[in-house]
Amino acid sequence: MLRVRAATLADLDALMELERACFSPRQAFSRREYRGALAGAGNVNLVAEEDGALCAFIGVLLDGRTRVGNVFTLNVHPSARRRGHGAHLLREAERRLVAAGAELCALEVNVDNEAAIRLYEECGYERVARLPDYYASGYASLDAWRYARALRRDPA
Ligand SMILES: CC(C)(COP(=O)(O)OP(=O)(O)OC[C@H]1O[C@@H](n2cnc3c(N)ncnc32)[C@H](O)[C@@H]1OP(=O)(O)O)[C@@H](O)C(=O)NCCC(=O)NCCS
Repeated sequence: MLRVRAATLADLDALMELERACFSPRQAFSRREYRGALAGAGNVNLVAEEDGALCAFIGVLLDGRTRVGNVFTLNVHPSARRRGHGAHLLREAERRLVAAGAELCALEVNVDNEAAIRLYEECGYERVARLPDYYASGYASLDAWRYARALRRDPA
């Protein structure tokens, strides 16, 4: 059974292992970047566990001033893909962002990342802009798409 819970600094080793399973060394976020995201007050960091093993993560940085959340990564272990975990984590993160007062959720995705692009579009994200040379290295194309979705509160 899938269990979703808030990520903590104690998950750092497992999160780095997951990051390495999802991205090449030239694409992967560093341990320092993960530590900063996990330590940031207001950020929404969720892990999904299956039978006690960490299999997916979403990290969203929340800017309390602009009320915009930015997905800095969404990782599902290769052995756990296409079972809805990515979409489920994104929805759960959005729910928590709304509870924290966020009005918009935005993200950047490499223009060649068809799996993630499909997922975000299925989840209602709209393409906002192409960001040339968004990535420093590690991708065939360094461009990103920016996507965004307005977050709505459920009617009371
Ligand atoms: C992108 C990623 C997070 C998707 O996670 P996932 O748990 O497999 O996705 P889901 O099962 O929730 O898929 C939801 C929908 O997204 C789309 N989708 C997901 N993976 C896809 C793929 N490989 N090809 C085409 N569409 C895909 C489908 O529409 C899917 O619905 P369906 O399975 O009913 O057809 C996962 O492939 C991953 O971790 N990739 C490496 C890391 C990465 O690129 N993260 C995004 C950074 S911006």
